[in-house]
Amino acid sequence: MITKCLFPVAGYGTRFLPATKSMPKEMLPVVNKPLVQYGVEEAIEAGMTTCAMVTGRGKRAIADHFDISYELEHQISGSGKETYLASIRDVLDQGVFTMVRQREMKGLGHAILTGKSLIGNEPFGVLLSDDLCINDGPGVLAQMAELYKQFRCSIVAIQEVPAEETHKYGIIAGESLKDGIYRVDEMVEKPAPEDAPSNLAIIGRYILTPDIFDIISEVEPGANGEIQLTDALQIQAQRGCVMAYKFQGRRFDCGSVPGFVEATNYVYENIYSAS
Ligand code: UTP
Repeated sequence: MITKCLFPVAGYGTRFLPATKSMPKEMLPVVNKPLVQYGVEEAIEAGMTTCAMVTGRGKRAIADHFDISYELEHQISGSGKETYLASIRDVLDQGVFTMVRQREMKGLGHAILTGKSLIGNEPFGVLLSDDLCINDGPGVLAQMAELYKQFRCSIVAIQEVPAEETHKYGIIAGESLKDGIYRVDEMVEKPAPEDAPSNLAIIGRYILTPDIFDIISEVEPGANGEIQLTDALQIQAQRGCVMAYKFQGRRFDCGSVPGFVEATNYVYENIYSAS
């Protein structure tokens, strides 16, 4: 049973400036709920009730969101407005929140290595909350946790993307074992369409085995000084096994303005208005 999920939430969110100048990108609301809360709810649903956040400067609003606001609780206690707090109260009842700060933004691989002290020596989930995933059945992390019981190795969530978008993602190549499940042979970070080994793109959901920490420590930073998780996963795939899983559900790239607007319209029409 995987009980911990790492949330790298230290990035600058430059694509949303000026909104993200003093507010974390992960607190941007899709309708009435911050992005990171959707992620935490997905992790808790998957049984990953310890949510380990890798934060940075300017991200205190995230820590405050996952804590009690006594003034607010007192102010609306007994009024009809209490219903608006129901979802976050549920999350606080079920989850445990731990935080560590990434002092320098040296990439996703470095953020995950920074989270090692919160995870220890056990398999864990990783959720990038700017990828908002919605499914009628079990959430993406729950689907992956189920798969982990079978394969006992790292798993990345993938989806097919148009060829002209491969440069935005880590792209995998591998052997198809059964419908939607691949054993990864190769991973390339942000390839041009002509260099991409497939159109199967890694999105922001992972199950990682703890040997990934030592592997990340070995990885040399790329040209931009960032330590790429994809490079570490490529090594892990060569030494042992990494699986890729075409998940059930829809994913919105809320790290980009068009994806965020699309998610907002979808959630408003299909979830908020229907509730
Ligand atoms: P992104 O590159 O998509 O996020 O990183 P960003 O840097 O915040 O966004 P832009 O490109 O400037 O608009 C993917 C995820 O990894 C986290 C980010 O917070 C995001 O969830 N991340 C990235 C870290 O936590 N630390 C890093 O050093 C880099």
